Amino acid sequence: MKLLILGANSDVAHAISKKFAKEKKCDLYLASRDMALLEKKTRDIKARYDVDATAVSFDAVDYSSHKDFYERLDPKPDGVILAFGYLGDQIKAQEKFSEAKTVIESNYMGAVSILEIIAGDFEKRGSGFIIGISSVAGDRGRQSNYIYGSAKGAVSLYLGGLRNRLSKKNIHVMTVLPGFMRTKMTQNLELPEKLMAEPDEAAEDIYRAYKKKRNIIYTKWFWKYIMLIIRNIPEPIFKRMSM
Ligand SMILES: NC(=O)c1ccc[n+]([C@@H]2O[C@H](COP(=O)([O-])OP(=O)(O)OC[C@H]3O[C@@H](n4cnc5c(N)ncnc54)[C@H](OP(=O)(O)O)[C@@H]3O)[C@@H](O)[C@H]2O)c1
Repeated sequence: MKLLILGANSDVAHAISKKFAKEKKCDLYLASRDMALLEKKTRDIKARYDVDATAVSFDAVDYSSHKDFYERLDPKPDGVILAFGYLGDQIKAQEKFSEAKTVIESNYMGAVSILEIIAGDFEKRGSGFIIGISSVAGDRGRQSNYIYGSAKGAVSLYLGGLRNRLSKKNIHVMTVLPGFMRTKMTQNLELPEKLMAEPDEAAEDIYRAYKKKRNIIYTKWFWKYIMLIIRNIPEPIFKRMSM
């Protein structure tokens, strides 16, 4: 099996790459922007798991390059994991549209641009799977991160629609909704220790859910219940809260 990881330099993507290489012995295309870091991760995976891994340059917001990027992959992947994302700075994004635009493009528009190309190919071939990493931040708009949250909410809706389209064609789409994970994205944030997941824990959850062909998963599991409560707080109360 050949797996394409988009945003493979992400800490959680690296943990997922290792998990799939170890358990499925699958060969990997590791795609991201920082090629020096990517080459290092590629060497690490090849040495540890005796699988083939290739580093490929990919920029989620360079939309015009996406068709060529995918056409150059030979052989074509059997599955794709979309992991790239950018948290950005909420206050900066409120003040400067350029920051808001980077957040929206890096999380949402890039995902639509590349996944539509891949979905079209999987549809023609009648097989494949897509695992998309969104976020619990997309479940309800909150003052502390609603620009990132709205982009992730759009990713979740998009993946739901893609699942609906592709399920009739033997192609499975899984949406992953992580809570807090200990990665470089959150390294400067003060987050409740008890709610944090290590990248390896998230990778374990994702791999288990992939094997069971789950549609939507929260990682860690308790986020399903936290978000159930948060989504159900009546708006007149919620709008007065500081979250
Ligand atoms: N950490 C959390 O608490 C958390 C919670 C919920 C959801 N998530 C989501 O989980 C996913 C993985 O996040 P992470 O925490 O592992 O983050 P991370 O370690 O900060 O990695 C994010 C990666 O995204 C890549 N990226 C950003 N913009 C890109 C672009 N334009 N083109 C290609 N790659 C790009 C970067 O690649 P380069 O290094 O190559 O530039 C970076 O390594 C993201 O979608 C994130 O939004 C994270």
